[in-house]
Amino acid sequence: MNFPKGFIWGTAISAHQTEGNDTNCDWWEWEKDKPDDRQFPLEPSGVACDSYNRYSEDFDLCKELNNNAVRISLPWNRIEPGEGRFNRSEIEHYRKVLQAAKDRGLKTFVTLHHFTNPLWFAGKGGWTNFKSPQYFKNYAKKCAKEFGGLVDAFLTINEPQVYALMSYTNGMWPPNKRNYFLSLIVQINLLRAHIDAYKAIKSVGNFTVGLVKNIVWFEPHPTEATFLDKAICKFLYFLNCDLFLKPIGKNIDLLGLNYYFTTRISHGRVKNLDDVISDLGWWINPMGLEKILLDLKRFKFPIYITENGIADAKDIRRKKFIHDMLVSCYKAIAKGVDLRGYFHWTLIDNYEWHQGFWPKFGLVEIDKKNGLARIPRKSFYYYANICKDNKIELQE
Ligand code: BGC
Repeated sequence: MNFPKGFIWGTAISAHQTEGNDTNCDWWEWEKDKPDDRQFPLEPSGVACDSYNRYSEDFDLCKELNNNAVRISLPWNRIEPGEGRFNRSEIEHYRKVLQAAKDRGLKTFVTLHHFTNPLWFAGKGGWTNFKSPQYFKNYAKKCAKEFGGLVDAFLTINEPQVYALMSYTNGMWPPNKRNYFLSLIVQINLLRAHIDAYKAIKSVGNFTVGLVKNIVWFEPHPTEATFLDKAICKFLYFLNCDLFLKPIGKNIDLLGLNYYFTTRISHGRVKNLDDVISDLGWWINPMGLEKILLDLKRFKFPIYITENGIADAKDIRRKKFIHDMLVSCYKAIAKGVDLRGYFHWTLIDNYEWHQGFWPKFGLVEIDKKNGLARIPRKSFYYYANICKDNKIELQE
């Protein structure tokens, strides 16, 4: 199965999950001095993978993977540590990081917000503040000015609805609120922030600007579903997809799709199969990816899969996972979907948010007992061959 010429092959990472010592942000504060009666986070991010210092080594791995692109994120807290106060040496640091990727022939897909907020911004009420899009827009504009020449695509916000859900609906992530109203306000502000940032970046230059959206495929149980289950699935998919994407209108050059799982509904409840389950208990269903891609055709924007991966510490399922997901991508392309790239989540094992370090999503293991040595897993070489040949060999 040959992929189109020029198809983008990459891996994705994010700053807080890999860099280490990412102080001055809301997550770092929350991770410190956890009281015993609080379950999460299971551990603090600490030095993480030390990618702040070891980024060249990480990009060497991307090169070894025969990747032609990489997705990273910029930490807002380091770049703008106080309102309107930009840190010159951090800007220089990230210019070096981006240049290091470029030197290795990697196109750069750069996320501006990946779940963490500067402390000054959080102190103003974070994304519940009506002015939050304005603050974000100023930072986005500065990034366009400082990094524009080194960036192939800006991705404004990572998974706005996942952020609103985890931080404001189920209260698992900072600022740990459980309030549907606030969660809705946050989603509206994130949407406004994307549109404002899109326009601000475009005012600096003709850059490519997208948004990263996690989309879950919801399907009625094939044998047990009621008429109501079918309606529930349609409604949940609408909330997860159209509700956010429709109002964006033309203020988007590409959609970054993060796909992890499908949810099946039977009699109003989740009833998934347990045939292929990740270490986090997520049901792996490659068919769901194809269905989402086919559905997204109606939006008519180019699509990149900006995240797709599996927590699999023993690396026993990852190879088949990659194969099956890419078969879904191939089929979608054959059916006319404008899918231009695939970024596997993730390059190296990293800080999996409230779960700490135990879920292993990496193509490369990080050996904590051995100076954070990077040790490629078997699936690393499997993915490297696909990227080299721009094709997958069909397997049963
Ligand atoms: C996030 C990543 C995370 C991954 C796996 C996505 O929701 O963007 O930061 O590590 O899922 O849970």
